[in-house]
Amino acid sequence: MGFHTFDPDQADRLEDVSRYRWCSNEELFTYLAPSPDDEVADLGSGTGFYTDFVADHVETVYAVDVQAEMHERYAENGIPKNVETVTAPIDELPLDDDALDSAFTTMTYHEFSGPAAIAEIGRVLRPGGRLVVIDWAREGYGTDGPPLESRHDLGHAISALSEGGFVVDRAESRTETFVCVARNESDRR
Ligand SMILES: C[S@@+](CC[C@H](N)C(=O)[O-])C[C@H]1O[C@@H](n2cnc3c(N)ncnc32)[C@H](O)[C@@H]1O
Repeated sequence: MGFHTFDPDQADRLEDVSRYRWCSNEELFTYLAPSPDDEVADLGSGTGFYTDFVADHVETVYAVDVQAEMHERYAENGIPKNVETVTAPIDELPLDDDALDSAFTTMTYHEFSGPAAIAEIGRVLRPGGRLVVIDWAREGYGTDGPPLESRHDLGHAISALSEGGFVVDRAESRTETFVCVARNESDRR
């Protein structure tokens, strides 16, 4: 399976509102641009720090995390009725083909970035469905987030997603994070 995990004992760090300087709800929402009836997944949802805001604006959010402890921590905050927690690795999602209109992943891509996970995202996203990846950038300062050697750069995401059948519509590297917005054109059908 091959993934790193965030220490659940450190989960409170994910609830620190100063994290919005690296990715705000507003910008995530702008990149995702969902419709009210959309089915969306938050891939590596942790404590649900970004899940709730998106859930306010769509039909369903599947909060996917490989660690049940993270969902337990999320439940302490109160999980919205239209959020379904899914305990699974991203490369083995218990979702039907084409189940999702879009998906997003914040600060987690470096933990699952292999071809199996990208193929699995391509399977559960409908054709043309949008994937928003926001993660720590390798060329960042490294003062927040994981050490630089654990991170990927934007080029990694562009190559991996392109090889996995996605078309990258937007790609930006910032001071400490990168954004990659891609469309599912995977040829698995
Ligand atoms: C750094 S935290 C970020 C959580 C959340 N996205 C946020 O920004 O607040 C990464 C989360 O992804 C989960 N995770 C890591 N690898 C995963 C994988 N392969 N499949 C599913 N979840 C994974 C971890 O358990 C952890 O909760």
